[in-house]
Order: sequence, then C-alpha cells, then structure tokens
Amino acid sequence: MVQKNWETLEGACYSCKKCRLWELRNNVVIGKGNPKADIMFVGEGPGQQEDLQGEPFIGPAGQLLDKMLASVGLSLENVYITNIVKCRPPGNRDPYDDEKEACLNYLRYQLKLLEPKIIVCLGRVAATTIIDPNFRITRQRGTWYSKKGYHFIATYHPSALLRDEDKKRPAWEDMKAIRKRWDELNES
Ligand code: URA
Ligand code: SF4
Repeated sequence: MVQKNWETLEGACYSCKKCRLWELRNNVVIGKGNPKADIMFVGEGPGQQEDLQGEPFIGPAGQLLDKMLASVGLSLENVYITNIVKCRPPGNRDPYDDEKEACLNYLRYQLKLLEPKIIVCLGRVAATTIIDPNFRITRQRGTWYSKKGYHFIATYHPSALLRDEDKKRPAWEDMKAIRKRWDELNES
C-alpha cells in the first residue's frame, strides 16, 4: 500500500493519462497554498497561463481572486486552491463529464490530505460537481451546505466577475461570510 502524501499525489498527477486532456497539456496543475489550510477553494480547470506555468489561478482571474482574498484578510497562508480538472480543457471549454469523473479521484485525495473545514466552489462547474448537479449559482451562491462534516459554499467564479462588475459586490459578501465562518470555527 502506497503511503498517502502530497508526493504520491504529485507523482500520480504528473504522469496521468486518464482522460484526453493530457494530450494538449503543457503542465499538470495540482494546487497551491497552505497544505494544512482549513479552507479549500475549487475552481474549474487551468487556463492558458496556468497550463504554461503549472500553477492554478495565476492569470487575470487568479489576480482578482488574490485581491478578493486579501480584502477579507486571507492569503495563500490560510487557504489551499485547486481545480476540478488538473489539465487545461482546450480553449477553456467546460470539462466534459468523463474528464471530471476521471480527475475527481485526485480532488478526493487532496481532501483526505488537507482535511479542510470549509470548501468553496468557485463557479458553476465546481458547484454542480461538488454540491449538487442541479446547483444554480445565481440563486444558491452564498448559502451554506453541510455534508460529511464539511461546510460548503459556492460563489461566482472570478472570471465571471471580470465579465460582469455587478457580481463583485455579492462575491465580496460571500468572501466575508467565508471569513466569518472560518473565525467561528476557530473559536469553537
Ligand atoms: N480558472 C480556473 O477555474 N482555474 C484556474 O486555475 C484558473 C482560471
Ligand atoms: Fe489525468 Fe485529470 Fe489530467 Fe485528465 S485532467 S489527464 S484525469 S490529471
């Protein structure tokens, strides 16, 4: 039995060919941040910059996410950030069901290693994959769900905020709610 640790995960991901997305990738993008964080953010999949550099959320959406985190006093020291799929879908299309299915074992493995208290779904793809297949982001974002001892919440994907300024205010409210829940969990 291979020991469960971050190196084992990285080794498996770097050589993974479990779905077609391996064919066009430059880099597998696993995650970044504190591997002991209480809060895990889950996006959709790497974009162009992420694929080229091997790190999640470093392009324009990532820069906005950094700002949103900083606005509530959070940073990569308190959070861990990853994606539903670890290789870039061509042209940033949504990942297909079989690709998500193939890649989800790595997310499950990350969950076991990290044991976060809070899981934040960034956007529809993460929310429909993790919380509920019928999740409606506009209607259900900012609402807490609990399952298997985790606290789940979804908010807009930072790319959506770049396209629509009006979403920034509710997304910031969600960030404040996440910060508040984190503080409460650390008090109890
Ligand atoms: N969008 C995502 O969903 N994930 C990234 O890592 C970058 C952009
Ligand atoms: Fe493997 Fe996930 Fe990349 Fe598909 S997206 S090849 S399952 S690491």
